[in-house]
Amino acid sequence: MNERDTSYRRLLEGNKKWVQRVMDADPEFFGRLAHGQQPFLLWIGCADSRVPANEVVDAVPGEVFVHRNIANLFVHTDMNALSVLEYAVNHLSVRHVIVCGHYGCGGVRAAMSARHHGMIDNWLRHIKDVYRLHQNELEAIADPTQRERRLVELNVVEQVYNVCKTSIVQESWQKTRLPQVHGWVYDVANGLVRDLQVNFSGLDEMAAIYEFEPRGA
Ligand code: CO
Repeated sequence: MNERDTSYRRLLEGNKKWVQRVMDADPEFFGRLAHGQQPFLLWIGCADSRVPANEVVDAVPGEVFVHRNIANLFVHTDMNALSVLEYAVNHLSVRHVIVCGHYGCGGVRAAMSARHHGMIDNWLRHIKDVYRLHQNELEAIADPTQRERRLVELNVVEQVYNVCKTSIVQESWQKTRLPQVHGWVYDVANGLVRDLQVNFSGLDEMAAIYEFEPRGA
């Protein structure tokens, strides 16, 4: 007979302490948030427990709209991700979309191996596709750790492209030139974010094959 695990109770206690701490610093905090959210940023990150969106950028509740999955993928047939992007861009009018990967990503590591991991292999296939796109560059890197780090970066860049290729972002660009789309990598070993400097805010920076003409044209 398994003993019932009660470690989760610590979280309920933690919640009470957190509310008290926030209220002590700013008694109006929850009252303000109750009126609605106006995040300026959509964060697309990895589900990894070491990369919590708000904490790593020192943001408070209400500032970051968050979508996380294994290995921070933006797959254009993923209804969940598309719904998040559509809502963030068209209803919340976020000014920035940040795809944030991280070094030491278990999803990227698994995708580089030939091991079976179960159903998740179908999800990680998207990373194998990124590998194939950049196979020559990656296989010229002799050190396996450096090769894995490079695939983490290339995967972020590819997901930035995937966000930009959507009709959601393109139609918004045609109207407002927003959102700006960025690619970042977080280092779990030192807590620092690296901006990969892949920033898009217009069609002219995209490959022509993905461009849609303006509606009604
Ligand atoms: Co990860």
